[in-house]
Amino acid sequence: MMQDHFGRSVSYVRISVTDRCNLRCFYCRSLKDWKFIPHEQILRYEEMIYLINILKEEGVAKIRFTGGEPFARRDFVPFLEELAQAHPELHLHITTNGTLIRDSIHILKDIGISGLNISLDTLRRDRFEKITGRNFYDTVRASIDRAIEAGLRTKINVVALRGVNDDELPDFVRFARDYPVDLRFIEFMPIGGSCPWKAKHYWSATDIKQELAVLTDLVPERAVDRTHGPARMFGLPGGKGRIGVISALSDHFCDECNRLRITSEGKIRPCLFSDQEYPLLPLLRKDERNLAEIRSFLHQVTLNKPMGYTLLQAYRDHHDASVCNRMMSTIGG
Ligand code: 5AD
Ligand code: SF4
Repeated sequence: MMQDHFGRSVSYVRISVTDRCNLRCFYCRSLKDWKFIPHEQILRYEEMIYLINILKEEGVAKIRFTGGEPFARRDFVPFLEELAQAHPELHLHITTNGTLIRDSIHILKDIGISGLNISLDTLRRDRFEKITGRNFYDTVRASIDRAIEAGLRTKINVVALRGVNDDELPDFVRFARDYPVDLRFIEFMPIGGSCPWKAKHYWSATDIKQELAVLTDLVPERAVDRTHGPARMFGLPGGKGRIGVISALSDHFCDECNRLRITSEGKIRPCLFSDQEYPLLPLLRKDERNLAEIRSFLHQVTLNKPMGYTLLQAYRDHHDASVCNRMMSTIGG
């Protein structure tokens, strides 16, 4: 088991499989940063599988693949198939922008993917193009429909952006009523050195909840077990889905944090808000891999996992600055 100084143990690992993406969401990275990491510096699938074998032995039960856009990486689906076959009891989740998945959904279902998180920040076609730089609204909507039809557990990630999508709240409520999904508003986080985070775009989870309560009855979820994720979800009377908020900034959940992140370059990032990263790639690429050495590295890195909220102080003290420099597309959210 991998445990840190605060007694938190790691059971959930997020792996960014690529920093590349076919969208250009304005909040994700600035255009001047649109350089991609060279392929040879990216964790190979074989290296991921080796690593995941170890993580599983160390008590990790859930892996989430993120990006960039994971499906933008070649052979991502065959990789998932191989992994699912090798570890049928691992809970495999994917966070995707939903633009490239349509034809793979039946495979995802067949191999037993536990959940799909699809990003959708607006329900308006023209606005989608403004936010993401690409005209893929209909494709994403079709993917969501197919995922639901296939019976995949589907969550919708909406980055909450004051002045950008706050006027769509009634439409989002309708969406969560009509579709059996968990729709979650994620507080916009100041991640990445050139992230265009601005206080004026910050739409807090408290405000969202208050504004939701004006529109609908909200039935709070009874058990708030945050090891399954930091969202606070509410049922909608007579509705098929649920709606909720992820308050990463205003109400941190660091005490219960059970996760590690692995960047697309194979660095371990113990905390989203800290740029402290530990390169694992050199160990994985040694002529002779040393299992004991890799294990001890994982333990050591976990031991030093910070309490992220202390780092958020920086953001509170210097509004409009980002807490860390690393871009979201290499960390994977
Ligand atoms: N703040 C909050 N959420 C973000 N995402 C990307 N950048 C940010 C940010 N700065 C979202 C993506 C995706 C999830 C992984 O994180 O839209 O849904
Ligand atoms: Fe791509 Fe996600 Fe970044 Fe948007 S937020 S550009 S979908 S990686």
